[in-house]
Amino acid sequence: MIEISTSILTIEKENATKTFYDLETAGTDYYHIDVMDGKFVEKNTESIMYEYSNIIKQMSNLPLDIHLMVENIKENIDRYIPLSPSIITFHYEACKDEQEVIKLINYIKENNIKPSISIKPNTDVELIKKFLPMLHMVLIMTVEPGKGGQKLIPETLQKVKELKKYILDNNLDTYIEVDGGVNKETINMVKEAGIDIAVAGSSIISAKDFKLAIKELK
Ligand code: DX5
Ligand code: ZN
Repeated sequence: MIEISTSILTIEKENATKTFYDLETAGTDYYHIDVMDGKFVEKNTESIMYEYSNIIKQMSNLPLDIHLMVENIKENIDRYIPLSPSIITFHYEACKDEQEVIKLINYIKENNIKPSISIKPNTDVELIKKFLPMLHMVLIMTVEPGKGGQKLIPETLQKVKELKKYILDNNLDTYIEVDGGVNKETINMVKEAGIDIAVAGSSIISAKDFKLAIKELK
């Protein structure tokens, strides 16, 4: 069985606290926090996501799964350390070289947080294989990062399959997460590709019954 990380990107601000509570009751495994800086992607969600994360920390023990779509990665890690997230994911494309990638992985680990790297749909999975032994997770973007409610790009699942094979062949225990366009129509092909965690935003948040929506994905 896979785990579900619910993206809270598209929730309504007026009902935020109730929505977080309902998601926990409905059985989400993580809260997925989409931090956008207006530079790496067009939208800026920095202050709202920080506000939401603080509310969640006060009311729930469920883990935070932080997805940094930002250029200034270190600054954002520092901002989230006091909230003790379970996982912090940053983008390979936002790093200037391999040294920076390794430095950031180590920095996240030193703070007792699980490190993860994400790649966009057009980034070759070969480029991140060398980091796998150092990582808790890899996040394969199944849409272009930037907004919720987009259609899953099926070709990206080829990367999941390749990564899964590499992980098994090399006896690694790296998790694979996908993010973007996951719903009850696409979940089967996503599962077949070999994922451990699926991020789902609009398909859960727009459902009348969160519990049913999560159950249908699991
Ligand atoms: C996209 C974000 C995703 C997105 C998922 O940039 O990283 O987490 O909000 O939303 P859905 O499930 O609606 O594609
Ligand atoms: Zn995300």
